[in-house]
Amino acid sequence: MKKRIMCVFGTRPEAIKMCPLVLELKKRESLEVIVAVTAQHRQMLDQVMDAFNIKADYDLNIMKDKQTLFDITTNVLNGIKNIIEEAKPDVVLVHGDTTTAFTTALACFYLQIPVGHVEAGLRTYDLENPYPEEFNREAIDIISKYSFAPTSLSKSNLIKEGRNPNTIFIVGNTIVDAMKYTVIKDYDHPELKWVGDKKMIFITAHRRENLSEPMHTMFRAIKRVLKEHPDCRAIYPIHMNPVVREIADKELSGCENIHIIEPLNVFDCHNFEARSFLCLTDSGGIQEECPSYGVPVLVMRNTTERTEGVDAGVLKLVGTSEESIYDAFKLLLENEEEYSRMSNTCNPYGDGYACSRIADILEEKDFNPFG
Ligand code: UD1
Ligand code: UDP
Repeated sequence: MKKRIMCVFGTRPEAIKMCPLVLELKKRESLEVIVAVTAQHRQMLDQVMDAFNIKADYDLNIMKDKQTLFDITTNVLNGIKNIIEEAKPDVVLVHGDTTTAFTTALACFYLQIPVGHVEAGLRTYDLENPYPEEFNREAIDIISKYSFAPTSLSKSNLIKEGRNPNTIFIVGNTIVDAMKYTVIKDYDHPELKWVGDKKMIFITAHRRENLSEPMHTMFRAIKRVLKEHPDCRAIYPIHMNPVVREIADKELSGCENIHIIEPLNVFDCHNFEARSFLCLTDSGGIQEECPSYGVPVLVMRNTTERTEGVDAGVLKLVGTSEESIYDAFKLLLENEEEYSRMSNTCNPYGDGYACSRIADILEEKDFNPFG
């Protein structure tokens, strides 16, 4: 009898990090793979599914405009219960810290189905930052039977919290597996032609806790620096959240050296990042990607769960105030020493074999840890 593994995800970053795993699990003879999506994100999820050519076996299709945490939680909890009862998986895999991941783990706990947590053990230990993700991941880690930790730091967080070391496996982050396929040498795009030989600045922003005044101040700081620096061209693939779009429209209009474009597919996104001079973001995943290309990242947040990149010097936490972002952005453009200090190429997050390690564990083969 094959072991039935159900992978559940709902947003863009979960899909980018779970699709390579789905492909790896499907190669294994002893495993049967079931893919269930909540579609907490719709278009941004479909973009990734198309890029990896994966079709969902179940689709809850829950997304609605300006959805609240109550909408997502209640719709996923009830919907995923029915799917799990019908599909009868032996193990359910969830990823990271989204409300899809937390609610699916909760449903599994109620149904007494073992959960595997991919990207376990990341922590800020601040329940307000990021919100609600810090709660989500801590709660998932309490429930999980398998904790797939990306680094030794994430494993040590779990051990400090009293988790059983025999259930924690350091596998690396599956994002590194994904990047093996996306970044190519001979890449071109019309937006890169617009940038030409200017310094390319890559921008993203979406965090729920930043959706009011912090996002206004973040954008104001960026606009001030760009106006003072015609030697830069900024590309901002904007999140589909209408609240983000309203703020960007108000704060960034009239700035000639920024192009606000629709979300890039993952292939384009990674190739844009790799060619950037620097990145300003509040994203989690981008903090793991840019270090691979030696692209400095100014993290527009007060905390990060990816401290490995801060320790390596390639990420800098700059908060969300207008002055701190303005100062840090200007410094990197104007001070070569600071720039070269930050443009370290390193990837503490994996070696590109996380998916095969997870598959080995689920098949109960010998385990060869990362790092
Ligand atoms: C969610 C996750 C966050 C993750 C982020 C990745 C939670 C609570 N938040 O936040 O952890 O970092 O995804 O991007 O789980 N929308 C669309 N089309 C899409 C996607 C979103 O129109 O394809 C719009 C909808 O109006 C939706 C809104 O964006 O209501 C917000 O989406 P939501 O998933 O609630 O929050 P995110 O900020 O995307
Ligand atoms: N990304 C993408 N297209 C874009 C912007 C981001 O494919 O236009 C990818 C990016 O490479 C990373 C992931 O989306 O892998 C990050 O997603 P997001 O910032 O939405 O969420 P987070 O990582 O903060 O949870």
